[in-house]
Amino acid sequence: MTSVLVTDIGELVTCDPTLGDESALGILHDAAIVVTDLPEPGVSAYRMIEGEAVPQRGSVAWVGPAAQAPAADHVLSVEGRCVVPGFVDSHAHLMFAGDRGAEFAARMTGQPYDGGGIAVSVAATRAASDDELLDLLIYRLAEMRAQGTTTVEVKSGYGLTVEDEVRALRLAVEAGVEETTFLGAHVVPAVYRDRRSDYVDLVTGPMLQACAPYAVWGDVFCEPASAHAFDGDEARVVLEACRDAGLELRVHGNQLSAGPGVQLACELGAASVDHCTYLTPADVDALVDSAATTTATLLPGVEFSTRSPYPDARALLDAGVSVALATDCNPGTCYSSSIPFVVALAVREMGMTPGEALLAVTRGGAQALRRYDVGHLGVGARPDLAVLDAPSYVHLSYRAGVPIATALDLTPPA
Ligand code: NIG
Ligand code: FE
Repeated sequence: MTSVLVTDIGELVTCDPTLGDESALGILHDAAIVVTDLPEPGVSAYRMIEGEAVPQRGSVAWVGPAAQAPAADHVLSVEGRCVVPGFVDSHAHLMFAGDRGAEFAARMTGQPYDGGGIAVSVAATRAASDDELLDLLIYRLAEMRAQGTTTVEVKSGYGLTVEDEVRALRLAVEAGVEETTFLGAHVVPAVYRDRRSDYVDLVTGPMLQACAPYAVWGDVFCEPASAHAFDGDEARVVLEACRDAGLELRVHGNQLSAGPGVQLACELGAASVDHCTYLTPADVDALVDSAATTTATLLPGVEFSTRSPYPDARALLDAGVSVALATDCNPGTCYSSSIPFVVALAVREMGMTPGEALLAVTRGGAQALRRYDVGHLGVGARPDLAVLDAPSYVHLSYRAGVPIATALDLTPPA
């Protein structure tokens, strides 16, 4: 094992309130971080523990002023740049093939989004080979990493048969994705249009049974305003079955209308309810009461790409709701993999400060995934660092559209 001293950090945002200026952002200037327990260059990044290959990712061992940094095996200078925790994108649909650019173009001329286009992606995904799907996923994960994202949740949901849903989740696990979500209840396939309960039976029966070994999470698109998605009663059946199969819960809720998704997610103790575009006062109350359990994950790239009103993040934060931001990267409602884009939208359009937006894509995303090792850079954290080619984290939204963020590669030179 080896260690790396990351130094000459002009501004270090740890997102750990016990560090630095002791604000929620935990900011230090002229700082350094020591990372230990990294694999030696050229040596396998896996170690066999009780017969299982466990990836060795290292951990943050020291954080403080650069002038006081202890020695390490290797030194990596970031030459005065800003370092923040690698972004945690807690909502993404990266497992798909095909293209829906024409649907986007039609929407920009006034066509509303109703979820019907998902069937186009389902057909293309089913037609793709395993190798094609895996290559697409690996390409998208790399695209995210190149923009500073180091933890990504990946959903199934473009297969919608037992075989195709299992395949999506199996390939995601094969690609090293840790946060995998079973979304067999994405839409009701056209062949089940007149016998919806048969599809719910399939999702909650054989499909769930086959997918559960590859999934951490169970999800449902709860949206009575869409003929393609699931109403509150159907969503409850799906979520309860997922929970009984040992999956933790997350929900697509209140995207197109003020439906039952948010309150259902809160009642069932879901880790996250995502979209939250249309909320009633009772929905906000439920989110406040459930703030310790259920995070409201806002996806402003969707409002951007569907020309919809943005959720009022300011009001949610002021009320005491736990808020995360994520991309929802998918071929229909937001084909952007960029967390910096989401941060810029949240600051410009949703009343969040640059600091609140950064917290929402680090600690907030981690909370939405019930992860405590990522989203901050305290001692013991996973050493996931994003470096900004800028003096301050404020530049994430200030320099909107400029690719200043990237994940820092800690691999020591061979
Ligand atoms: O999160 N709302 C449902 N699912 C996706 C969109 C999927 C698609 O249109 O392909 C979403 O917005
Ligand atoms: Fe989604």
